[in-house]
Amino acid sequence: MKSILCNRLGDPDVLEYKDVDIPQVDENNILIKVKATSVNYADLVMLKGQYQTKPDFPFGPGLECAGEIVDLGIKVKKFELNQRVLAKIPHSGFAEYVLSNPEFTYKIPDKMTWEHAASFFVAYVSSYTALKYQGNLMPNQKVLVLGAAGGTGLTAVEISKAIGAKVFAAASSYEKIKVIEEYGVDHSINYTDKNLKEEIKILTHGKGVDVVFDPVGGKLFDEALSSLDWGGKYLIFGFVGGIPQIPSNRLLVKHRSAIGCSLRFFENYDKEKIHTSVETLFKLYNEEKIKPFISKCFELKDAPKALNLLKERKATGRIAIVI
Ligand SMILES: NC(=O)c1ccc[n+]([C@@H]2O[C@H](COP(=O)([O-])OP(=O)(O)OC[C@H]3O[C@@H](n4cnc5c(N)ncnc54)[C@H](OP(=O)(O)O)[C@@H]3O)[C@@H](O)[C@H]2O)c1
Repeated sequence: MKSILCNRLGDPDVLEYKDVDIPQVDENNILIKVKATSVNYADLVMLKGQYQTKPDFPFGPGLECAGEIVDLGIKVKKFELNQRVLAKIPHSGFAEYVLSNPEFTYKIPDKMTWEHAASFFVAYVSSYTALKYQGNLMPNQKVLVLGAAGGTGLTAVEISKAIGAKVFAAASSYEKIKVIEEYGVDHSINYTDKNLKEEIKILTHGKGVDVVFDPVGGKLFDEALSSLDWGGKYLIFGFVGGIPQIPSNRLLVKHRSAIGCSLRFFENYDKEKIHTSVETLFKLYNEEKIKPFISKCFELKDAPKALNLLKERKATGRIAIVI
């Protein structure tokens, strides 16, 4: 089978399009014939050797995929051959066949496309668990989403709207603002042109927001922290723009909290919340309250080009790899 793998760390250009053996199931796992997979920012981080997990060589990017079950371990009881599924996997999902753990494999809704299924788990489940369980976001609360046209930013926007929150969505260009506005946000802010803190102050009549969802960090952190109201929650979600240091005095004086949000925490220590989240998100998908935005599709051999779009800050929504 064809697979995208690397034998050294670096940028997407180190990846090779290789012929390798189709993996064989053991008694506990599932073999999926992959129809689509997708790129996540974490693929770039793993490729650099800076991710929380460091797989042995050769490994490939790809944390999720969708396809049909073509083989099953003898102890796997809750799936059947030919079922349409999506799976969250540890890495190496850019391949024609993938082994998955039944624990993180889900039968997909009949109407879900392969591209949607392959782009679903990481972005939606991580932003849902962050907003719901860490941020406790409630209807009519105000939420500020940074990097709002990106993969997890846009899913955070959709989920916040589905919860009934008032959404302030921020991004770095008018092209990205156009994407956000298609999702019916209450206010959009281009933080390249405008001062985020001042804009939020004006839009909230001096009060600020209840929750910040931040997959970006870096220079934006300071203005976003100042945009939190009394008792507000800062969801620390990602560091694409750099890892900020938190000035504890600014948490204390306004009774704010900064809260870590990690999908891996739920995968390792609170799986039930993952399964409940997937169920809720599939329901929202079936009701057309959320709809993955696939801005581009690539062939498997062109996966490095897809990753480079994220690296160069040119991606919007999700990018799928169709096999
Ligand atoms: N905590 C979790 O469980 C979890 C789960 C999934 C992902 N993440 C993390 O969340 C972050 C975002 O992931 P993603 O998949 O949403 O990425 P993405 O699709 O590439 O979006 C990231 C956004 O960050 C902004 N950005 C600012 N500086 C950038 C730079 N130097 N390069 C690229 N983008 C930059 C961009 O928006 P603007 O141009 O509008 O600023 C971009 O749209 C990553 O750090 C990822 O590891 C965390």
